[in-house]
Amino acid sequence: MQSPQVKVLMVCLGNICRSPTAHAVFVQRVEEAGLSKRIAVDSAGTGDWHIGHKPDTRARAAGAKRGYDLDSLRARQVCAEDFNEFDYILAMDENNLRDLQRLSPPDQRHKIRLFLEFTDQNVSAVPDPYYGGPEGFEQVLDLVESACDGLLAHIADTELRAR
Ligand code: 4NP
Repeated sequence: MQSPQVKVLMVCLGNICRSPTAHAVFVQRVEEAGLSKRIAVDSAGTGDWHIGHKPDTRARAAGAKRGYDLDSLRARQVCAEDFNEFDYILAMDENNLRDLQRLSPPDQRHKIRLFLEFTDQNVSAVPDPYYGGPEGFEQVLDLVESACDGLLAHIADTELRAR
């Protein structure tokens, strides 16, 4: 039987900058829409360097300025069960996409997509802000907010209607 919940996994490299930002923003959008019981959100990294760590201080500060709370999140690595568990496995950039496709069982690869497919802005990747300045974290938030709006509209139009 199909799960009554739609499950969304946000994925980047470290799970301390981009994907926790997307995680926190999408949780807030889902709550605002009154859909918390129907849409579950998580995030993970393809790399293992930051397992157990809080999101990057700069990501937490930039998010907090816009009203998003990243403080309770802890980094984890993508694992084999994720490919069965989640309906949408959303990569922040093309490297994350390739790594996920390589890790995924072939019959689950259709779940893996670029997160920015859900924005109408003409950009495919959320740039990695880790080695840059604070403006990079603002750009992440701008792209993430836009794609979260598009993703929520898409799920509401397609998945929730069908379940
Ligand atoms: P994220 O950013 O993938 O958006 O979490 C990064 C965080 C850490 C590293 C690279 C990217 N790192 O090399 O440790």
